[in-house]
Amino acid sequence: MEIDFKRGSIEHTPHGYARVQITEKSKGTKCLVKEGDSEILEIGAGKFADMNLRKFIILCRSIVSAAKANKSKKIALQFDRTSELFKNLQAVPPEHISQLAAENFEMANFEFNVFKTKPKEGWNIVEEIFLYGKSSPSIEKAVKKGQEIGRAVNACRTLSNTPGGDITPTSLAQAAKKAMKGLPVRVTTLHTKEMQKLGMGALLGVAKGSSEAPTFTILEYKGGKGAPVVLAGKGVTFDSGGLNLKPSNGIYEMHMDMSGAAAVIHAVALAARLKLKTSVIGLIPAVENMPGNNAYRPGDILKSLSGKTIEVLNTDAEGRLILADALTYAKRFKPSVVIDVATLTGAALSALGLHASALLTRDDNLAEKIAQDAETSGDYVWRLPLWDEYEEGVKGTFADLANAGNGSSARYGGAIEGGMFLWQFAKELECPWAHLDIAPRMTAAPQDELAKGAVGAPVRLLIRFIEQWKP
Ligand code: BES
Ligand code: MN
Ligand code: ZN
Repeated sequence: MEIDFKRGSIEHTPHGYARVQITEKSKGTKCLVKEGDSEILEIGAGKFADMNLRKFIILCRSIVSAAKANKSKKIALQFDRTSELFKNLQAVPPEHISQLAAENFEMANFEFNVFKTKPKEGWNIVEEIFLYGKSSPSIEKAVKKGQEIGRAVNACRTLSNTPGGDITPTSLAQAAKKAMKGLPVRVTTLHTKEMQKLGMGALLGVAKGSSEAPTFTILEYKGGKGAPVVLAGKGVTFDSGGLNLKPSNGIYEMHMDMSGAAAVIHAVALAARLKLKTSVIGLIPAVENMPGNNAYRPGDILKSLSGKTIEVLNTDAEGRLILADALTYAKRFKPSVVIDVATLTGAALSALGLHASALLTRDDNLAEKIAQDAETSGDYVWRLPLWDEYEEGVKGTFADLANAGNGSSARYGGAIEGGMFLWQFAKELECPWAHLDIAPRMTAAPQDELAKGAVGAPVRLLIRFIEQWKP
């Protein structure tokens, strides 16, 4: 999509552009008015006095979705900072508003159509937005940056949406390599033999049930001299549950169980593209969780890279196993902070519904930073506790640890138990660590004003975090 700045009055929009008019009608109202031969798209934003950043994000998306519904390929829009619409947003820097607008225009314009036949009239997308209103070089730069971010989010969505039959651990590693093309990012992929040599027994254990070989990909972007930010993303290319096979209503969409990996891949690529001054390492452990005849079994004991042994109580709690080895591997980069991103538990969905990822960390300072960046980026999170009281639930009976809650913790607080399990490995790191359980944000919520399928969380949060982080 092109976003062009225009001088003068929107009244003089050339023919062929639908003019967007934002009104105080109730949120979500969209209608088309014909005025002579020009078209006016009316979008309700609700009372301007109630405007805030969250509503502004949705408003930007609904502008694009209204245009699409109307098949308007070109629209003209006036964002006037002095208008009533922005009265409540005066404290927000205009650059940030502009960046957010561009990000969300791009996100709303996206549809996953890789597997669809192109219609004769072409895809239904907005091709151009004319932006009227006061502009400046810094505003134009912010819009360009917003577009880059929006595109990275959409690339992440494409990768997440790709069917399980089309993405294997090997092709996920290739996708990571492809995403770094032309960027100063070093890509290394470890294969089974190397992982055996290192002793990544937890990851290798999960991989056994699939005929697809596992991979472990390392992305290295050197943006500065300081200690790097390490991001680890769960890359389960399909989660059948393994021998603890998922029921029919739980297995659909499990090709998106590599959404954490997709987000880390595109956050690293974006950090390089935006030339951020912080070094970033991406770790992508990738497996397919299948019940093949060599599959790991409930009761099996795996030896992780850390040396800690893990009793498998449930083969469907596979994400924490592959991430355990990734967290131990992270140590060699002497990171300033480690964040893992995973569609880890259905319990996170039960706890938070569809609108926030779960944030788990033992570090209050880091929690505060991430929560703030989440709010400003629009990639919302909500914190859950990781208190000592929960630690009992991850202890093993015949091994050091168990991969699923035992005793009374087996039924409740599953998102916390998942985080507590990862903490057993993260505590060996000599830096702050946070876990983002993005299962709630794996697919779009109806209120999101986005296409069905993956939403690309938390690429926007990660990039904001990397920008703001002071090692
Ligand atoms: N990938 C799933 C979690 C998930 C479920 C993500 C729904 C997105 C939507 C994960 O591997 C899983 O199966 N978790 C189990 C853990 C349990 C066996 C301890 C779960 O949540 O039930
Ligand atoms: Mn699972
Ligand atoms: Zn999973």
